[in-house]
Amino acid sequence: MTRTAWLTKTTLIVVALIVLPGPGIASARNPARRWTSATAAQEPGPQRTVWDGVYTDQQAQRGARAYQQHCSRCHREDLKGEAKAPSLVGAPFFDRWSNLSVHDLFFAIQITMSHSHELFAPSEKVADVVSFVFRANKMPAGADELPVDEAKLRQILITGKPATQ
Ligand code: HEC
Repeated sequence: MTRTAWLTKTTLIVVALIVLPGPGIASARNPARRWTSATAAQEPGPQRTVWDGVYTDQQAQRGARAYQQHCSRCHREDLKGEAKAPSLVGAPFFDRWSNLSVHDLFFAIQITMSHSHELFAPSEKVADVVSFVFRANKMPAGADELPVDEAKLRQILITGKPATQ
């Protein structure tokens, strides 16, 4: 093959690669964009923070028992962790989780801590453990239990303690 022939062939292949999938990509992209903006419209950013009383005392009490059973051997009784298991309280907690939603923490506990099959599914027990972790971080309890529902958990933001408190 001459150099010119090779160049022509290569150019044709390149042009084909760019042009042919074009409509496919465009039509795939547009609904995706519509879907994203529709979702964004339905779900405004987080409405509450963890300082607004997002779990109940009773829930944290149940969470304490679950923590004892599933977590304390690595993260320790005082939640301060050891070796590779990070602290779940104080500065290390806020450095890791501030400005993320409660769902992010819930999901991390549910998925990365799936040593226990019982906790693998999004369950009330995970919400109980999250409540216990919140109480250990001195966040106030409230009237309603922390839900298991992902959309609702995404509405609650983890922040450092507000200056007003
Ligand atoms: C067998 C030991 C062990 C047990 C049991 C355990 N953890 Fe962990 N956990 C770790 C280690 C090690 C890490 C750090 C590595 C990682 O993120 O996977 C970790 C990380 C974490 C993180 C941080 C994840 C992140 O993305 O930063 C959280 C939160 C956590 N654990 C909570 C829990 C809770 C709650 C339980 C009980 C339901 C639990 N862990 C049970 C060892 C354990």
